[in-house]
Amino acid sequence: MAFETIIVEIEDHVALIKLNRPDALNALNQTLTRELMQALEEADANDKVRCIVLTGSEKAFAAGADIKEMASMSFAEVNTANLFAALGDGIQQIRKPVIAAVSGYALGGGCELAMACDFIIASDTAKFGQPEINLGVIAGIGGSQRLTRAVGKAKSMDMNLTGRFMDAEEAERAGLVSRVVPAKKLMEEALGAAQKIAEKSLLTARTAKEAVNRSFESTLAEGLLFERRVFHSLFATEDQKEGMAAFIEKRQPQFRDK
Ligand code: HXC
Repeated sequence: MAFETIIVEIEDHVALIKLNRPDALNALNQTLTRELMQALEEADANDKVRCIVLTGSEKAFAAGADIKEMASMSFAEVNTANLFAALGDGIQQIRKPVIAAVSGYALGGGCELAMACDFIIASDTAKFGQPEINLGVIAGIGGSQRLTRAVGKAKSMDMNLTGRFMDAEEAERAGLVSRVVPAKKLMEEALGAAQKIAEKSLLTARTAKEAVNRSFESTLAEGLLFERRVFHSLFATEDQKEGMAAFIEKRQPQFRDK
């Protein structure tokens, strides 16, 4: 299916979704939001896809929500459109792993979109920020919540109140991104990570994602109990038998997602 604001390619079990509004530094408008959610849901439902990579351009992952589209909206319009709620909440419903490959600007809604993915691999040119305060608003898709959980109160307050940008090195130090690589190597690194994930049992990968995400929604005791019970349940799968047998027999496992 052809999209107006994104490009989707599926190769070797990985769906690569590229934001494609170069004239607006991939600013997120309502069309892009709708198309991106559709592409993510289709990739989640597609048996050929085992991992998803979301990326932008070299200059910008996304420079935020589309200011030109939002500028004249009333409270009622923003409220009725439930502006960008699909991105903030919807990506959480995607059960396959989603990696954000970030180069250049990831600002406002762009930073929030990256944080809504499962993890971020950044190029050394990446710049993260929540500059909404400069526009007289605040973050609206998780920039005051996910960022605080990722980097702690001090840096989150700093970024949300001053609107300053964080470079890739600081973002890695702060725990916002999992890896930083030279810009030219970004896609190789992100697709390589996706490929590694695609080789696992999808059943197990989904379960691992669910368990990590659970830690954000529960006490440690509840999270540990959830993890332990899910760990036990994986012994009912063929892939657990195959994974452990393959180790003992010194061969590569052949997972069947069962
Ligand atoms: C609409 C945008 C845009 C945005 C850039 N553009 N960001 N259009 N919405 N968020 C457009 C510019 O208007 C310009 O178009 C073109 O992209 C290139 O941008 P320049 O500013 O000329 O590029 P540069 O000088 O390199 O500066 C890059 C930049 C700057 C630092 C990223 O563009 C910038 O500050 N952008 C806004 C960042 C921001 O405030 N993001 C938060 C948005 S609010 P023209 O046609 O003029 O050439 C938000 C809320 C989320 O995200 C929560 C919602 C619920």
